[in-house]
Amino acid sequence: MSKINAAITGVQGYVPDYILTNKELETMVDTNDEWITTRTGIRERHILKGEEKGTSILGIEAVRGLLEKTNTDPAEIELVICATVTPDMLFPDTANIIANALDIKNAYCFDLGAACSGFLYALTTGAQFISSGMHKKVIVVGADKMSSIVDYTDRTTCILFGDGAGAVLLEPSDEFGHIDAVLKSDGSGEPYLHQKAGGSRHPATVETINAGDHFIYQNGRPVFKAAVSGMSDVVKQVMKRNNLQNDDIKWLVPHQANHRIIETVARMADFPMERVMVNIHKYGNTTAATIPLCLWDYETQLKKGDNLVLTAFGGGFTWGATYLKWAYDPS
Ligand code: UT7
Repeated sequence: MSKINAAITGVQGYVPDYILTNKELETMVDTNDEWITTRTGIRERHILKGEEKGTSILGIEAVRGLLEKTNTDPAEIELVICATVTPDMLFPDTANIIANALDIKNAYCFDLGAACSGFLYALTTGAQFISSGMHKKVIVVGADKMSSIVDYTDRTTCILFGDGAGAVLLEPSDEFGHIDAVLKSDGSGEPYLHQKAGGSRHPATVETINAGDHFIYQNGRPVFKAAVSGMSDVVKQVMKRNNLQNDDIKWLVPHQANHRIIETVARMADFPMERVMVNIHKYGNTTAATIPLCLWDYETQLKKGDNLVLTAFGGGFTWGATYLKWAYDPS
C-alpha cells in the first residue's frame, strides 16, 4: 500500500489594516528607517488595533478565507491546530475560539507553541493525522498578535514584529504533500529569547508588570548566530536524507525574522535569492504566521509538483526544516 501524504490543498493569509511604518517608529523610539531597513529588511508591519481583539481575530479571518476559497464545509473539518505564542488567553485554546466562530463543529482543536517554529511543528503534527489515515481534513493555522507582547519603548524589539495569520488545509494525497521534516529543540536557548512573566513561574503581579516582564526579551546577536547555523544545518539535512540537490528545490521558504538571516541561510545552503520566498519588508516578523503568509503571497507562482523546503528558527530554541511537494496549480 502506498504511503498517504498530507497535501496542502489551500492556503490563506490575513493581516490587519493598520500599517506601522518605520517612519512612525521613528516618532516612538530612537531609531531610523535606514537602520531598520539595512539591519532587518523590514519597511512596515501590520498591527491589530482595537479593544479586546486577540489573536483569534487574525486566525478567524485566515481560516474563514481558507474555507471559502477551498469550498470546504466547516462541518467536514476534523482537527484544527493553532500555532501561537500570543493566545487570546491561557485557556481555552485559541484554536477552539477560531473553530467556534466559524461553525467548525465536528473538530477537536488545540494550540501548539514552539514560537517562530510553531507553524512547522504544527504542520508536521497535522500531517501525521492525515498520513495515519485518522483524518481527511485538518486545518493548521499560524497566528500571532505580536503587538500584544512588544514593548514599544524598546527599540531593539519593537521594530521587528508585526501581527498576522496564515492557514492551510491538509488533505490526503498519494503523490504530493508533506514528505519529511527535521525538527529540533534546545532548551538552553531560554535566556536569549523569552517572555518571562505571565506563566506559572512568574504569574502576573504589580512587580512583574512594572519590571516589563510580560514583554518579549531578546538578545539579538546570539539568536542571530544560532538561527543562521540551525536553519542552514536542517535544510542541508532534510535535503540529504531525501537525495535532493539544490536544483531539485523550486523554493526555499524561510521564517521571516531578518533579511540578513534569510540571505545568509540561502548562501550557506547554496540557494539563489530568486528561489527564496521573502515578504519580511511588508509584514516584519509575525512569528507563527511568517511561513503560511509567504506561501499565500507566492501561491500564484507555485505549481503542482514543485519541491519546497520550509525552514524556521525561534524561541526555545526551536528550529526545523520540512520538505513538501506542492499539490496544485494556480487557479
Ligand atoms: O524570530 C525569532 C528569532 N529571532 C531572530 O532570528 C532575530 C535575530 N537577531 C537579529 O535579527 C538582530 O540581532 C537584530 C535585528 C535584533 C539586531 O541587529 P544587530 O545587527 O545584531 O544589532 P545589535 O543588537 O548588535 O546592535 C547594534 C547597534 C547597537 O548600538 P551600539 O552598541 O553599537 O552603539 C544597538 O544599540 O545598533 C543599536 N540598535 C539600534 N539602533 C537604531 C539596536 N536597535 C536599534 C534600532 N535603531 N532599532
